[in-house]
Amino acid sequence: MAEYVCLFHKDTVIVKSPRKSPVFLRTIVLLFGIVCGIYICTVCLRQINTVSKIKTQNLQVIESPSPDSNILAQLEARIPTLHYPKPQTFSRGECIQNPVRFFAILSMQRSGSGWFETLLNSHINISSNGEIFCAMDRRKNISTIMQTLDRVYKLDWFNSASKNECSAAVGFKWMLNQGLIEYHKEIVEYFNYRGVSVVFLFRRNLLRRMVSLLANSHDRYAKLLNGTHKSHVHSQEEAAALSSYKPIINSTSLISDLREVEMDAVKALEYFNSTRHMVVYYEDLITNNTKLNDVQEFLGLPRKELTSRQVKIHKGLLSDFVKNWDDVIKTLNGTQYERFLQADY
Ligand SMILES: *[C@@H]1O[C@H](CO)[C@@H](O)[C@H](O)[C@H]1NC(C)=O
Ligand SMILES: *[C@@H]1O[C@H](CO)[C@@H](O)[C@H](O)[C@H]1NC(C)=O
Ligand SMILES: *[C@@H]1O[C@H](CO)[C@@H](O)[C@H](O)[C@H]1NC(C)=O
Ligand SMILES: *[C@@H]1O[C@H](CO)[C@@H](O)[C@H](O)[C@H]1NC(C)=O
Ligand SMILES: *[C@@H]1O[C@H](CO)[C@@H](O)[C@H](O)[C@H]1NC(C)=O
Ligand SMILES: *[C@@H]1O[C@H](CO)[C@@H](O)[C@H](O)[C@H]1NC(C)=O
Ligand SMILES: *[C@@H]1O[C@H](CO)[C@@H](O)[C@H](O)[C@H]1NC(C)=O
Repeated sequence: MAEYVCLFHKDTVIVKSPRKSPVFLRTIVLLFGIVCGIYICTVCLRQINTVSKIKTQNLQVIESPSPDSNILAQLEARIPTLHYPKPQTFSRGECIQNPVRFFAILSMQRSGSGWFETLLNSHINISSNGEIFCAMDRRKNISTIMQTLDRVYKLDWFNSASKNECSAAVGFKWMLNQGLIEYHKEIVEYFNYRGVSVVFLFRRNLLRRMVSLLANSHDRYAKLLNGTHKSHVHSQEEAAALSSYKPIINSTSLISDLREVEMDAVKALEYFNSTRHMVVYYEDLITNNTKLNDVQEFLGLPRKELTSRQVKIHKGLLSDFVKNWDDVIKTLNGTQYERFLQADY
């Protein structure tokens, strides 16, 4: 299968040592832990009802285009936890009184998350810090993961996407294969303890995702754009150049490859079922402008018009982008994945 490539914002990390005495800090942490524990217990008790309903819905989430809107509405109605972080590296200035929400975008490679992030970052109060767990050393074990998360949510993470003083929502995108599934138990605990809201971003058409993945992986070596590899482009010319390569899809393993990706998504939804979350589909973002409003509402932010300069690479009929299209049709005809052959986007 294709290799994964990821680009991330240039990060600079500044860590200052704390000045307060460790005993004092430990007491604070202990008290905070107790309060949070009590809070989580009460929240859990309240959630058990909704959560068990979600579980039965999960298994068909990729298949069914319209998830039970009643449950989604219930989840969205719950307000995100508000935080007042005190970064060690700068002062929040005039915005010190403004609450901050924590979020994480959980997604898979080539599912539109890069585009989605540029849209979010066009909001003056959103700071989404890119694919920070692309770097292996940050996800080596659960402690390096927690340290990285702490730094992000304390606003002490700096890169080109950071908008520090007046950020009202801070987060990043996290791919399912970047330690997220491996350490899901600890991460879910962390998310619920710290009040991190989860935005799942999935692509319905997994065949299109596969084409994008294969083409991107090829470009890593072929470097179609004047000798540089690009995963995202900003002009029609660049998009046309990248989509000129037609990958061959392995029809022998096609069904099992699609199933595997689908199961990854289902698994993630199941593991993270107790977090405050919403599910967004790439296809819906493209066809329905109001989806972005739902996301802003979910994050509890003032609604803004969001924009991105990115241009879609594979536009039009999928048959134009695959070399062995006839094989693919033959393989998928009559299966549950047949719908991927026709669908746009
Ligand atoms: C995690 O990795 C870091 C860095 O390599 C190491 O210092 C630390 O001891 C490891 N922690 C655990 C719990 O394995
Ligand atoms: C959003 O940012 C602007 C400008 O930085 C700031 O004035 C405003 O208070 C922020 N809004 C929220 C909800 O934090
Ligand atoms: C490649 O470089 C040439 C000359 O510098 C430029 O005119 C052209 O637009 C570039 N093509 C792409 C796809 O970036
Ligand atoms: C296609 O997939 C099958 C089954 O996984 C594998 O045995 C075969 O080598 C693959 N073919 C190519 C060209 O990668
Ligand atoms: C949530 O998912 C986990 C992991 O699959 C499962 O064990 C648990 O029963 C689920 N919880 C509910 C309430 O559905
Ligand atoms: C667009 O999304 C909103 C909710 O996000 C939904 O109510 C509406 O029916 C959708 N419109 C279309 C045309 O699908
Ligand atoms: C799909 O299979 C059916 C028979 O099962 C056949 O009649 C039809 O022509 C096939 N479609 C394509 C596009 O091959």
